[in-house]
Amino acid sequence: MNPEQPLIQLRTNTRQILSCQSDFLLMKQSVDRMYQLFSTITGIDISGYQEEIFLPSGKAISPSAAAHCLLELKRTAVFLRGIHQAILDKKAENPGRPVKILYAGTGPYGTLVIPLFSVLSPADLQADLLDINPCSLNSLKKLIKAFDIGEFVGNMYTDDASTFEMMHDSDIVISETMQACLKNEPQVAIMQNLIPQMKSGAVFIPEEISIDAYLTNPKMEHDRLFYNEGKEIPFERIALGNVFTVNRENLETVRLRNTLSLPGKLDSFPELKLFTGIRVYGDETLGENDCSLNLPQKYYDFRVQKADAVRFWYETGEIPGIRCRPEGSSTIVSRPGKYPRPDYYQLYLEKQATTTNN
Ligand SMILES: C[S@@+](CC[C@H](N)C(=O)[O-])C[C@H]1O[C@@H](n2cnc3c(N)ncnc32)[C@H](O)[C@@H]1O
Repeated sequence: MNPEQPLIQLRTNTRQILSCQSDFLLMKQSVDRMYQLFSTITGIDISGYQEEIFLPSGKAISPSAAAHCLLELKRTAVFLRGIHQAILDKKAENPGRPVKILYAGTGPYGTLVIPLFSVLSPADLQADLLDINPCSLNSLKKLIKAFDIGEFVGNMYTDDASTFEMMHDSDIVISETMQACLKNEPQVAIMQNLIPQMKSGAVFIPEEISIDAYLTNPKMEHDRLFYNEGKEIPFERIALGNVFTVNRENLETVRLRNTLSLPGKLDSFPELKLFTGIRVYGDETLGENDCSLNLPQKYYDFRVQKADAVRFWYETGEIPGIRCRPEGSSTIVSRPGKYPRPDYYQLYLEKQATTTNN
């Protein structure tokens, strides 16, 4: 294949994503075309089946699922815009050399960096690429060949980013290995490993992930989502406060916890929901319902049992995530949407107990 043609297509669509602001039709057209291009070249599409990898720090989703992330249009656009801006800012700080990037958790398409190779030059940008799944690395090699972008790429590692030792300084380290409420995937463990190894002034992307708690009214939430065609729908939530925020300054697991008080009367707002906000870089942010990473997650229903306060904590390990315990209850709630029974977490504990007993 003549590399000119695919590279021109990639460039056209990357420029469109970077410049289309909130025009979702243009955004969708460009990610759809990028998906056609990437899936044709790599042979990996969203319908294939490859193994997920279960790490001590969480689950690395399969290459097909990782490919699917590209199609989350606003996520892809906001990350690409933030990373593009971070590269321009770092280049302005050091005009005489390329900006060095470590991209940890590339997936099969390198979605958050490879498109930027088509609008920048190797004198602007050099990237090391890392993924735990060898399938992702093989796929990236096909893209590098098809687009003839080898000059942008330094090292390629098949490794676990939550234990990886950085050999070289990077100006920007990128990892999007998360789901809503930081559940299941190892985003926090990767940040805890890589950020302390970064030189001062280097940027980690996303810069900040915040979790906020609200009490909600199920009917208001439903009506707001489904019946607001031009009508004013009365809508309220009770803000309980910030559960925690993960960023460069606030990283250690012991700091990712909080106890939030509840108001006396919960009757109209019985459902506890957690909201995930992401500051990718500078003004580029993702908030409620912008993509799957920001879907509100139900944690508890106070119609089942009342409480005065809820204790929240983040747990690292094979199934990382936020756990909570309403005060006075012995129930630990760990998985959004399936309350009050701690199903997933309970299964995990049972599995651990069986392994220990054997
Ligand atoms: C959610 S996908 C994101 C893919 C791509 N970066 C994007 O944003 O579209 C996460 C990717 O990170 C990889 N991954 C997850 N945990 C990892 C770890 N601990 N070390 C290295 N790669 C990891 C997975 O294999 C998967 O390819």
